[in-house]
Amino acid sequence: MNFKIIITLIVAFIANSVFSANILYVTPVASPSHHVWNRVLAFGLIERGHNVTMLTHDAEKDPLPKNFTIILLEGIYQKRNASLDIDALLSQTPMSNVPDMYNWGLYVCKHDITTKGLATLLNYPADFKFDLIVFDVTLGQCLYPLIERFRDPPVVAVTPFLLPPVLLRTFGNNLYSSYMPFYNSQFTNIMSFKERLLNFIYVYYELIYRNYVFLSRATEIAKKRFGENIRSLEETERKMGMLLCNIDIMLDYPIALPPNIIPIGGLQVKAPKELPKDLQEILDKAEHGAILFSLGTNLRADNLDLNKRKAFLDAFARIPQIVLWKFGSNITEDLPKNVIIRNWLPQNDILGHPNLKLFISHVGTLSTQEAIYHGIPILGMPIFSDQKVNIAKMEHRMLAIYVDIKNISFEIMYEKLIEMLNNPIYYNNVKKVSELYRDQPQAALDRALFWIEHVLRHGTAEHLVSVARDMPSYKINNLDVLAVLALCLTLLYSFVMLILTGLRFILTFRRQNKKQKISKTK
Ligand SMILES: *[C@@H]1O[C@H](CO)[C@@H](O)[C@H](O)[C@H]1NC(C)=O
Ligand SMILES: *[C@@H]1O[C@H](CO)[C@@H](O)[C@H](O)[C@H]1NC(C)=O
Ligand SMILES: *[C@@H]1O[C@H](CO)[C@@H](O)[C@H](O)[C@H]1NC(C)=O
Ligand SMILES: *[C@@H]1O[C@H](CO)[C@@H](O)[C@H](O)[C@H]1NC(C)=O
Ligand SMILES: *[C@@H]1O[C@H](CO)[C@@H](O)[C@H](O)[C@H]1NC(C)=O
Repeated sequence: MNFKIIITLIVAFIANSVFSANILYVTPVASPSHHVWNRVLAFGLIERGHNVTMLTHDAEKDPLPKNFTIILLEGIYQKRNASLDIDALLSQTPMSNVPDMYNWGLYVCKHDITTKGLATLLNYPADFKFDLIVFDVTLGQCLYPLIERFRDPPVVAVTPFLLPPVLLRTFGNNLYSSYMPFYNSQFTNIMSFKERLLNFIYVYYELIYRNYVFLSRATEIAKKRFGENIRSLEETERKMGMLLCNIDIMLDYPIALPPNIIPIGGLQVKAPKELPKDLQEILDKAEHGAILFSLGTNLRADNLDLNKRKAFLDAFARIPQIVLWKFGSNITEDLPKNVIIRNWLPQNDILGHPNLKLFISHVGTLSTQEAIYHGIPILGMPIFSDQKVNIAKMEHRMLAIYVDIKNISFEIMYEKLIEMLNNPIYYNNVKKVSELYRDQPQAALDRALFWIEHVLRHGTAEHLVSVARDMPSYKINNLDVLAVLALCLTLLYSFVMLILTGLRFILTFRRQNKKQKISKTK
């Protein structure tokens, strides 16, 4: 082999190899779906030979893989009511959602600072070294002082919560409020003037609320645990160079991102595994196909009132497909022959079964990504948060039909089921998007791992940060320049008008003088 080629290969190998790093992964959001997403990334890091210590609310079944340690922020799920109140969530508006969400974040913070788990981590030797911290920055800013405690290793921020506008701004991008719909609205990227006005208000309301109300309250909570002398949370956030977010260029509306915001949407989706024997048999035998029905990890179907449950069951009784319903508890009604209820179902593997025809879903972000990956259209019943923007996006692309869960009746359910099962357009569209999603240079997880290791290799991501990050909004949008130009134009216009008026006045005056002279001479 050519000597030059060998040298090039060696150099490339050194540049791409990373020592086995010691990584702290902090996930302060108490939500099983956040954990599902974060643990996939953590396991990816472990497979690359790193040692991962995860601070989380979600326990894992033993035995844990080698080089994986969980430090449990224990007790939050016992405190919170076992499942969420659907009616309260359904009455949320985009405006009320903002304080609700951040207050919930503060509630979790207040809990976290009292946990044994946090004490365990803080009791690590003073000189214990983490080479890098991965931090789920969706909420939980009161734990930022941990970064200072471990003497500021590089931090990679992540969020499973799509790409919230506040983080878009915090990491240095524009807020595209004119064509990026707020996550808790049912707007699409094409908005009427009224929608654009409302979207602007939602986006800036959240930005102001987070920066001036939430962060100052989070600071107070953090000071109680970490001491009065902690660095400001904003400063700690500014030191994070990179954000990995849960959007994808094929699945979400196209927007321009700066190089330090990396889309890794759907990193949790994977090829289906073998199903448990009974389910495999049920699905294999489903000659008319099958439907999966699940309201996600936070909600249980037994929170639905009896009338709605009856409406679902009556509609299911009228169709030939098998319905697999993840119910979350035991049902008391008599079931139609084709309805099968389970406390838990392997969602990804069922979505991947060739006989599956339709997914009835709460349209959570992870579920939506999995359905598209497997090419399954959705009958969507959003309940809160990003589910609303997800259904709008899916419906806009004709990958889904929206049903208002407040208004469920037998007639509506039956009509929509028939439409989705008999009209091939949804199935064909979602197959196309599935092909697009798979046709990318890298899988989302590989992209995430590459960029985390890039930060490990170079110790920072600051070289990818746009200067816009430190500029106030008015400068980014050149509002001051526009104001000066507008002022100049106004002055110029006034000046010209003044001269014209002056000239006209002089001319009139002269004409009158002439007339007077003429009349005098007459
Ligand atoms: C575990 O982590 C250590 C140190 O980070 C590393 O040297 C070792 O190769 C890892 N072990 C495995 C099985 O990945
Ligand atoms: C791996 O993480 C565990 C738990 O934080 C820690 O005790 C151990 O020292 C780490 N191993 C290495 C090689 O850094
Ligand atoms: C928990 O449930 C109880 C009874 O169902 C209710 O009174 C209480 O308000 C709930 N608490 C929260 C925090 O939602
Ligand atoms: C459902 O019923 C079975 C058997 O009656 C019982 O073992 C199980 O705990 C019940 N599950 C729930 C969630 O109530
Ligand atoms: C409920 O559904 C009916 C029938 O489709 C419709 O006419 C009505 O406007 C819906 N109401 C709400 C609140 O969505």
